[in-house]
Amino acid sequence: PIKAAIFDLDGVIVDTAKYHYMAWRRLAEELGFVFTEKDNERLKGVSRMRSLEILLEVGGLADRFTAEEMAAMAARKNEWYVQYISGMDESEILEGAVECLAGFRALGVKTVLGSASKNAMLILNNLRLVPYFDVIIDGTRVTKAKPDPEVFLLGAKEAGVKPEECVVFEDAQAGIDAAKSAGMKAVAIGRPDELHGYDRIFRGLYEVKPREILEQD
Ligand code: BG6
Ligand code: MG
Repeated sequence: PIKAAIFDLDGVIVDTAKYHYMAWRRLAEELGFVFTEKDNERLKGVSRMRSLEILLEVGGLADRFTAEEMAAMAARKNEWYVQYISGMDESEILEGAVECLAGFRALGVKTVLGSASKNAMLILNNLRLVPYFDVIIDGTRVTKAKPDPEVFLLGAKEAGVKPEECVVFEDAQAGIDAAKSAGMKAVAIGRPDELHGYDRIFRGLYEVKPREILEQD
């Protein structure tokens, strides 16, 4: 039986992709190239440093910078990103997220955050979502990025449940792969033509019925 529901943050609970994009595009502009919204799709679910590597690749600037210069660029991007997200409020919670979290809880299922972001606490605080989670694992707690299962396995461990008793909600392919390699059930949030390897797929949490997820297991 399912005993814990693990949620990715960016793209599942809140649409932060646009703010990540604004900050990365600004960095690209400074470096003298255009970073499109389509290029930005490749950064979903990917860690900050890996995102920078992909961005530099797109700009034809791969391997041009020292590790120190790269760290400084990532830090600058993050400063802008933090500025953009500090203005966020509850109106930016995606449709159905609160109902879904509360719905699982009401059925006795633990709610867990499994995010790659080091800014997850800032976002959850601004959106007043902290009380909806029993366990919060974010990018400050893990060393291996998705598709490595570390973030989800740690979430299961802290929730006191086995991996096979978890269902993961993810919008990124790296996250779906991480859930499957953790031995968990993967529910994709997105479009069937863009994702694969999941157990179920929905367009958003507004389509998810917690009771049905438990019954289908
Ligand atoms: C993921 C996002 O949740 O977090 C990625 O999908 C982002 O786009 C990653 O790069 C790391 O986030 P942050 O906030 O630590 O830079
Ligand atoms: Mg995501």
